[in-house]
Amino acid sequence: MLYLLIFLSISLHANGSFITAEEYATQLYHNPRGIGCHKCHGELGGGRVIAKYTHKDEERIYAAPAIDMVEYDEFAQALKSRKIGMPRYFLTDEEIAALYLYLHPVDK
Ligand code: HEC
Repeated sequence: MLYLLIFLSISLHANGSFITAEEYATQLYHNPRGIGCHKCHGELGGGRVIAKYTHKDEERIYAAPAIDMVEYDEFAQALKSRKIGMPRYFLTDEEIAALYLYLHPVDK
């Protein structure tokens, strides 16, 4: 949580121009060195059904859960562990904090 506060108070320098922490966080959510989080968890992290399919005559749903209500510690832990149905990312603590920030805007 402390990370988040530190992160909020700085601006990042990228591509030769200053961007705000919020802009950086939005970019990272959509392009986290791998498939964008939004593709599975939805634009604002509300969760999404990715596919419906039939397996042995049974209808199944492949869905990504909502991640906009998860506590920070749980969120960070989930990104550092292996999940079935989700790619593994190798994100730094700062990047995880930025993603959390994207999902929990300060004025929300
Ligand atoms: C290919 C689809 C896919 C992508 C892309 C993806 N996820 Fe997931 N994610 C899932 C699925 C499916 C689960 C549920 C896994 C499980 O139940 O164990 C999950 C679980 C999670 C959880 C745990 C939620 C909980 O309630 O414990 C978090 C946090 C999370 N994802 C964050 C992210 C972030 C941040 C990104 C982008 C860096 C991302 N995910 C990208 C499919 C995806």
